[in-house]
Amino acid sequence: MSLFNNTEKPIGLASDHAGFQAKQYVLKILEEKGIPYKDFGAYDAESSDYADFAHPMASAVENGECYPGIAICGTGNGINMVVNKHQGIRGALCWTPEIAFYARTHNDANVLSLPGRILTENEIYDIMVTFLNTPFEGGRHKRRIDKIPLNPVGS
Ligand code: RB5
Repeated sequence: MSLFNNTEKPIGLASDHAGFQAKQYVLKILEEKGIPYKDFGAYDAESSDYADFAHPMASAVENGECYPGIAICGTGNGINMVVNKHQGIRGALCWTPEIAFYARTHNDANVLSLPGRILTENEIYDIMVTFLNTPFEGGRHKRRIDKIPLNPVGS
């Protein structure tokens, strides 16, 4: 597995307690493949609030310290809502490789959000590999994603 966009930057990881086990699985895969990452927590399976870990991770992707991000909670919804509060983040909740493929080709998603309590490890693996290896298509999709931020540059 290789990163399409930028192998120099660490992948930002964030979860809550419900995504902790899945995040540890992702982290293990990244370690095995020699892909750098930065873990923003949660660091254990004790009950926690996903926003506490997702905001710092999203900020790190936004400011260029990390790329991309992977965010995991129980359903993926809560943590995806948090990362998408950041104007520079396009977080995509993905539960199949096909959704992950289009999240990259059409949306240039920079955070992959996953439902840790719903997916098996094999499913997470396939989604993650697709997300990390699929380039943005650009063209008409660039025009569309440029309209997503609330205060787009030049507006
Ligand atoms: C935690 O129980 C759960 O609500 C959280 O992980 C997430 O699924 C929220 O969207």
